[in-house]
Amino acid sequence: MADHGEEQLLQRALELARQAFGLASPNPYVGAVIAGADGNVVGTGIYTYTGRKHAEILALEAAGEKARGGTLYINLEPHAHQGRTPPCTDALIAAGIHRVVASMADPNPKVSGRGFQQLRAAGVQVEVGQLEEQARQLNEAFARYIRQGMPFVTLKAAMTLDGKIAPPPAEALAGAEGTPAGGWVTSEIARAHVQEQRHQNDALLVGAGTILSDNPLLTDRSGRPRRRPLLRVILDSRLRLPLDSRLVESAIKDQKSDVLVFCSSADPAKKSQFERLGIRIETLPAAEADGRPDLGAILRRLAELEITSVMIEGGAAVNWAALASNLVDKVFLYYAPKILAGTGSIPFAAGTGFRHMSQAAQVKNVHLHRFGEDFAVEGYLRDPYGE
Ligand SMILES: NC(=O)c1ccc[n+]([C@@H]2O[C@H](COP(=O)([O-])OP(=O)(O)OC[C@H]3O[C@@H](n4cnc5c(N)ncnc54)[C@H](OP(=O)(O)O)[C@@H]3O)[C@@H](O)[C@H]2O)c1
Repeated sequence: MADHGEEQLLQRALELARQAFGLASPNPYVGAVIAGADGNVVGTGIYTYTGRKHAEILALEAAGEKARGGTLYINLEPHAHQGRTPPCTDALIAAGIHRVVASMADPNPKVSGRGFQQLRAAGVQVEVGQLEEQARQLNEAFARYIRQGMPFVTLKAAMTLDGKIAPPPAEALAGAEGTPAGGWVTSEIARAHVQEQRHQNDALLVGAGTILSDNPLLTDRSGRPRRRPLLRVILDSRLRLPLDSRLVESAIKDQKSDVLVFCSSADPAKKSQFERLGIRIETLPAAEADGRPDLGAILRRLAELEITSVMIEGGAAVNWAALASNLVDKVFLYYAPKILAGTGSIPFAAGTGFRHMSQAAQVKNVHLHRFGEDFAVEGYLRDPYGE
């Protein structure tokens, strides 16, 4: 398919799918457009978890009889199996859809290709692969979750050009409430983009050190709707989390059960005090090396809770633990044109670090983004579609 008009219709399906950020997880983002036999758009659909009905079914319903002889443009393969809803392929065939133009196959290896197979067997023309790169990126979290049973992990940080995420803690000048102890690294437009990223994730994860130094709220302030609240995950072996932190106070006020603390050796009395206030606490075995809960075990637990994506927002100790665990899928590193210098400033990742250039984490498929004077590097440490 090289038709420019057709590519636009597929692009529209992708845009519709993106409107479901915050509303589809733990299922994939899907947008559908049906063009009637005369080429005009006769129906569109967006999948949301609460709405249940798949995008192609909503598009068929909107199109009615005009779907007959038409073409479906969709970012993901229609499913041929009975899930929460009946197979979409049956409905497409019954409605007389003549062609299906899809960007990619279902990333779930258990069902991948079956939808296309069933459509072809019924005489429907099927074309796959147009705008595939965009479509694969859109559902990278779903792919990682459904293929490996792990959340897709983005490691995000804001730093100076010399790789510092904060000034020396002891010397940091106190800032206004709601700002990090040492001041914001990046500008407002970069920080607004972080809110968009939070919106696209099911959970955020930080270490106790960041709570103690910056007193952050860690909420999704994109202003867009989401089905489940953004889960705020704190790594805090000994429950040092202050009761009067903004995070705890907001959790008590909102009672949304959206703060989950992982500890390993917490005082039982403090634990039950937090739990009475509505803070979820889970105890995991302490890793032998450092007495802290293991990041792999934490991520597996989050997957059990149907968390498909996690954005790690530091600080330095947690960033290193994430890199060392080899469980980071993507980095999204924001840089401000500033130089902090000084040996006491906080580096992006602390710990032992990798000992040789040949062992350094290799970032692939790199993209650069501009945010006014700031910029960001986005790239992959592993392939969410890999084995
Ligand atoms: N610019 C940015 O993007 C950004 C973002 C966040 C933070 N920061 C800065 O980073 C600094 C804080 O960094 P930090 O290194 O002190 O704190 P951190 O990485 O946020 O938290 C580290 C603490 O988390 C706990 N922890 C529990 N399980 C862990 C595990 N598996 N691996 C690692 N840590 C685990 C440990 O305390 P226990 O041993 O008591 O459990 C550890 O001391 C602050 O200056 C803050 O401003 C900057």
